[in-house]
Amino acid sequence: MARWNLAAASVVLGALTTAALAQTTGLKDVYRDDFQIGVALGGKLPDSYSRAEIQMIVNQFNAVTPENCMKPQSVHPQENVWTFDEADALVQFARDHHMAVYGHALVWHNQTPTWFFEDGAMPASRELALQRLKEHIQTVVGRYKGQIRSWDVVNEAISDGPAEYLRKTKWLTTIGPDYIDQAFRMAHEADPDVELQYNDYNIENGVKHQHAMKLLRGLKERGIPITSVGIQGHWLLDRIPYSDIETAIDDFQQLGLKVSFTEVDLDVLPRHTNGADVGSKEMPNASLALSGTALDDVLKRQADQYARLFRLFDQRKAVIERVTFWGADDGRSWLNTWPSHRENHALLFDRQFQPKPAFFAVINALTPPPAPGQ
Ligand code: GLA
Repeated sequence: MARWNLAAASVVLGALTTAALAQTTGLKDVYRDDFQIGVALGGKLPDSYSRAEIQMIVNQFNAVTPENCMKPQSVHPQENVWTFDEADALVQFARDHHMAVYGHALVWHNQTPTWFFEDGAMPASRELALQRLKEHIQTVVGRYKGQIRSWDVVNEAISDGPAEYLRKTKWLTTIGPDYIDQAFRMAHEADPDVELQYNDYNIENGVKHQHAMKLLRGLKERGIPITSVGIQGHWLLDRIPYSDIETAIDDFQQLGLKVSFTEVDLDVLPRHTNGADVGSKEMPNASLALSGTALDDVLKRQADQYARLFRLFDQRKAVIERVTFWGADDGRSWLNTWPSHRENHALLFDRQFQPKPAFFAVINALTPPPAPGQ
């Protein structure tokens, strides 16, 4: 286990160059015996990233999730049009840098073109939607057979409110509730060796956790080939539900599933919207920008809370396969534009790709502090 001195590190923080960082131990090395450390990457690889940023990425992470380029809207914008350029480039990048690829996502209500659900001017029938779903899954999963560790087969199918169980999506209304079973079966048929995951936010607590248990238990009982559950982990500063997370990991493990934290970030700015529904938006509030001691204070709290999270993950490492950050550094985070435009600081690296206090806290999370006088 690498040992970084947090106090010393914060003194040199400003001076630590990317080149120096590239030669130091990365997160992936510190947690190598626990779980993979992943990152979501967007755009075209490697061209959409500077050399310095790429250097940081390959030094720190050993797994990659495509932020957008494998979603239906990106790869399959029209029924007979397939666009795999960015997805192919991401898979090649991962191979070049010995990173595992986690496919995301086959079935989702967002970033999915409407043609899936239309038949000319009429809504598509169940049969037509199922046929399209099958062709989509067979083509995408088939193309990357053997190159992808696990697929997010279904993303965010559970409703946010307590009253409803499944989210009322076009998939649900066109096919019916068995669209989830069908999608897993189709993915398994396309690649019998790939791991298959259900992925969602807020499934670690409250009614949504109960609904997730109902969904996952049902899938297992019906023999659907699901292997893991992804807890997205879009959390808020001071509001990480630690004990719910522990319980959720244990509950999912009892169903015979592995667990991954698939989209981790820690929003440091206040907002009304909870969860991570990309459909919810708020009015911009420019006064939320942080600087000086206010920013220092927030970054310190963020560091402590990330460290506690990683200690929790470490205690459950037998069931956790991967912890993936949703973006490489603060400049890349979706939280700069959702739920409104603001300058956020949600990840472990800043806008210059330099390690933040949270990075050092996570690197040191498993190392006991030095005894007094040492
Ligand atoms: C959800 C999706 C991700 C991404 C984020 C927002 O969590 O699963 O693919 O779109 O929203 O960036």
